[in-house]
Amino acid sequence: MQITTYPFPQAITEKHFYKKTAIVVDVLRATTSIVEALKNGATQVITARDPAEAMAFYSHFGKKDSVLAGERGGLRIADFELGNSPLEFSEKVVNNKTVVICTTNGTQAIHACRGASRLLIGAMRNRAAVAKEALKQSEDITIVCAGTLGECSLDDVIASGGILNAIIKQLEVPPELNDFSRICLSLYSSWRKGEIEMSGITHYKKLFELGFIEDLSFCFELDKTDVVPKYSNGSIKG
Ligand code: MLT
Repeated sequence: MQITTYPFPQAITEKHFYKKTAIVVDVLRATTSIVEALKNGATQVITARDPAEAMAFYSHFGKKDSVLAGERGGLRIADFELGNSPLEFSEKVVNNKTVVICTTNGTQAIHACRGASRLLIGAMRNRAAVAKEALKQSEDITIVCAGTLGECSLDDVIASGGILNAIIKQLEVPPELNDFSRICLSLYSSWRKGEIEMSGITHYKKLFELGFIEDLSFCFELDKTDVVPKYSNGSIKG
């Protein structure tokens, strides 16, 4: 089995995930929020590429049955009900509703991978569960970090390393890894040993400065849920 990890979606084209299982990781915070929404009873999550598309989806599903969420610059988009803090997607807010979400990098990364044979949404909180789900079929795996506007984001690198670590633990024969997968594994191991200064990570620092301090620890909690969001025909379900 081959497992190939990429630092941002701008590094891939369809051939990188053709007939493969793709896992998209935007640990701070889009994929964590999607996991949380489905864990808390959302019927589906619809990702939009921009706020106008999100508005159109929201009008389609209607105010009573859907919730409109999204961020720009880490902050809630004007006139949207929710931002992109996973803590906002509580059962009270999302249960039995369609969540329409538009974020700067995470939802774009999901869109970029929609042609994969299977598309799973990964985070630290569903790390072991997404690894198990990925191995249910014997396809090669492509892990795509959302990154930040075409640049590598260390938070996603660490989380992808965590998912890789969980996948490898379940395999009897070690997989073939590209060099970036090895970098992710190595940085995950450093993170586990407390060797990474998290406050120096660009997006971590930005969210801290914006006041999303609880999100930071929440998003980096390991293996808290078995929910594995799966994309199919424009809809993500648990
Ligand atoms: C994104 O998609 O760029 C992020 O999830 C941003 C955020 O932390 O809200």
